[in-house]
Amino acid sequence: ALKLTLLSGLLGTAYVSYHLYREKNPAPQKPQTATFSNGSPRKTLVILGSGWGAVSLLKNLDTTLYNVVVVSPRNYFLFTPLLPSTPVGTIELKSIVEPVRSIARRAPGEVHYYEAEALDVDPQNKTVKIKSVNEDYEYEMDLKYDYLVNGVGAQPTTFGIPGVVENSSFLKEISDAQEIRMKIMTSIEKAATLSPNDPERSRLLSFVVVGGGPTGVEFAAELRDYVDQDLSKWMPELSKEIKVTLVEALPNILNMFDKTLVDYAQDLFKRDRIDLRLNTMVKNVDKTHITAKCGDDVAKMPYGVLVWATGNAPREVSKKLMTKLEEQNSRRGLLIDDKLQLLGAQGSIFAVGDCTFYPGLFPTAQVAHQEGEYLAKVFKKLYKIDQLKWEIAQGKGNASQLESKLARLQNQIEPFHYHHMGALAYIGSEKAIADLAVGESKYRSAGSFTFLFWKSAYLAMCLSFRNRVLVAMDWAKVYFLGRDSSV
Ligand code: FAD
Ligand code: NAI
Repeated sequence: ALKLTLLSGLLGTAYVSYHLYREKNPAPQKPQTATFSNGSPRKTLVILGSGWGAVSLLKNLDTTLYNVVVVSPRNYFLFTPLLPSTPVGTIELKSIVEPVRSIARRAPGEVHYYEAEALDVDPQNKTVKIKSVNEDYEYEMDLKYDYLVNGVGAQPTTFGIPGVVENSSFLKEISDAQEIRMKIMTSIEKAATLSPNDPERSRLLSFVVVGGGPTGVEFAAELRDYVDQDLSKWMPELSKEIKVTLVEALPNILNMFDKTLVDYAQDLFKRDRIDLRLNTMVKNVDKTHITAKCGDDVAKMPYGVLVWATGNAPREVSKKLMTKLEEQNSRRGLLIDDKLQLLGAQGSIFAVGDCTFYPGLFPTAQVAHQEGEYLAKVFKKLYKIDQLKWEIAQGKGNASQLESKLARLQNQIEPFHYHHMGALAYIGSEKAIADLAVGESKYRSAGSFTFLFWKSAYLAMCLSFRNRVLVAMDWAKVYFLGRDSSV
């Protein structure tokens, strides 16, 4: 037993030391060049975005085969599954980001990065217009590509409901999480200056979340946890007055989960005093109230902080691209084929993740991640195909043999198959729900044990060892010291 303990201790130390060393010391990279050693041109692969799809591609791609260029206004990858935990301080924002520079620097071949936004894609001339997002070094330029991967994600949708953009906060980016935190703290401090029977105090302490999808549910749960577990200790009287409301247009929240899990979550919300307003569709938002339709009734609800989480809409650059290709006739997203090629772009543009619409593929990190992995394999095959085409064009070797080899290679690019592993959601009070799929079998669970599973699954999914350590430390910090109540 002693030997075993010593051995596992040694192995553990070696594992941690190796990862710590790799975190700080990337291996040397092969530089970009115009041609390969055989004289064939090295093609340019432009990747738009630094989210789940783009980063999964980048991490799995053999970047020595292309001149890889990444364009994203966000110079980091954001681990969105833990974003709802950040506004209340369960998780620190820095713990769930990974710089693009470090991801790019760990690739085997040099990767260029522009901190810029793609404005417009020209599929005919194979160029993409980009614009820097930093006012201190403004530039706009056209990048030429041989292959383009669109991984720009989606933007929050408002369905054109008046007042949403002006008065609510989304929960999509780091800046959203910071804004929500600031609004919560300001509302609490402002309410504390008013007398308990002042209606303005009750308005300020009404926190409303619109959208009962997983984003809205997880955030409402985190908010209630913060009030009950931490604020109740520092502001006991005021915390009792805080009301958390979740508004959902459909008869149930979390519609992608099994009915038993939905019922479990809804019962827990009732117990935890999260006011669930089902069948209630918000129609208008002003500075202090939302107006919602519930059957034939119209209700006006006051709010101090309003978080809007009603799903996704395409980004401008994707919308523009849709107008340029006849085959793109869906308003829900870019249409792709089963090999993730953009319809109408003749094999030079691919799209992954939330910017696309393909029946059966939902806008989740899981889908985007698998698509990125798949495309990395496709680009390996495309490299071989392009090499062969070049050899044929140069008149090298036996033409008919090369042609049949080419046809074989082209047939080897198989369609993308998505493996759904299930869905997880945090629902508050250290409980989670899991709707898992293992092969053909389905497993459902809910409660405290599922919360531990949720935690370990998300730790395992973190992009880097560094993220994993920081997230684990954040959870330990909350357990021992609680969340802090300042901005
Ligand atoms: P994103 O990850 O959104 O990345 C898009 C990238 O494109 C970003 O880097 C962005 O800066 C960049 N970009 C934007 N505009 C441009 C432009 N014009 N030019 C160039 N780049 C641009 N899914 C799950 O499966 N499990 C979860 O637990 C989960 N939790 C979530 C929690 C929250 C709060 C949210 C908002 C989403 C969650 N999702 C979850 C969904 C998941 O985050 C998305 O499906 C996933 O991020 C999609 O990946 P993507 O690469 O398409 O887009
Ligand atoms: P969503 O599209 O899943 O849910 C939005 C909800 O808002 C819907 O239930 C809709 O009925 C409701 N809604 C729309 N308009 C409304 C209105 N006017 N008034 C009231 N309710 C209204 O959006 P969400 O939660 O932002 O998720 C986006 C994507 O990210 C989804 O694909 C989701 O699966 C994924 N995601 C997954 C998570 C997980 O697996 N834990 C966590 C967060 C997001």
